[in-house]
Amino acid sequence: MIQTNTITDTRERLQEFRRQGSIGFVPTMGALHQGHLSLVEKAAAENSIVAVSIFVNPTQFNNPEDLKRYPRNLASDLELLKDSGCHLVFAPGEKEIYPEPDIRRFDFGHLDQIMEGKHRPGHFNGVAQVVSKLFDIVKPDRAYFGIKDFQQLAVIKKMTKILHLPVEIIPCPIIREKNGLAMSSRNELLLPEERENASLIYKTLANARNLTGNKSVQELKNWIQETINQNPFLLVEYIEIVDIENLLPISSWNEKGGKIACIAVRCGKVRLIDNIILN
Ligand code: PAJ
Repeated sequence: MIQTNTITDTRERLQEFRRQGSIGFVPTMGALHQGHLSLVEKAAAENSIVAVSIFVNPTQFNNPEDLKRYPRNLASDLELLKDSGCHLVFAPGEKEIYPEPDIRRFDFGHLDQIMEGKHRPGHFNGVAQVVSKLFDIVKPDRAYFGIKDFQQLAVIKKMTKILHLPVEIIPCPIIREKNGLAMSSRNELLLPEERENASLIYKTLANARNLTGNKSVQELKNWIQETINQNPFLLVEYIEIVDIENLLPISSWNEKGGKIACIAVRCGKVRLIDNIILN
């Protein structure tokens, strides 16, 4: 496994690799866990070469405290990646990615005005800035993203369309801890008691899936919010039930198409997101 820190070096190495076949790419912000590794493994199964990037992207953090606290463990990340099927790890510094401030503004329409977009202004613009740069550097055939960040996946798909990028976006299932909590780098910041109580988020979503016949959409949202808020460690920031294709909120189960419940919950100083497909 090769580690690169500069764009020039990354491009040169990948140019050699590209002759061997397709390149699968997994962009990350490090503090890697089994969720990230599942993406790397899928990329390795579907491509001849796998590149992973590790970069805590400052432009996608709307909260400076969150950026400061974000866990960073490059040494253990490299250790984890060694046997995962990854061939190249690109771990650039901030000046390498942003030699100049990125002034680009993307218009994702309503995708950026609901849920994460509404509660984290500028977040998806920052994600699009960094991912478009990383795609330009790595030029992958396929890029792998977790359904855990469902709205991010939709934004990335839209961005590749807007910019006509020749990359296939591959969604990957959510990997969970034993207690059901969706794996996340931010889980490292939870106190043991918080981590245990946070498992109520998924338990509630999983129960909600069985209640769609008994409650209206609004009743189910209220039920999820009340059930989670009864736990003193947790506070729901939003719960939305949206169309799985266009992410528009639905108001009746009779509406056509797949539906997904998306949630953000505060647990201590940490903000957790999760989702579940309802049908
Ligand atoms: P990060 O949070 O490190 O996540 C990197 C990738 O891993 C994302 O596609 C995310 O959806 C996926 N992932 C995280 N937890 C997962 C889990 N429990 N199961 C499955 N996949 C999971 O998402 C980002 O970084 C950044 O926004 C990035 C796209 C790298 C741009 O900076």
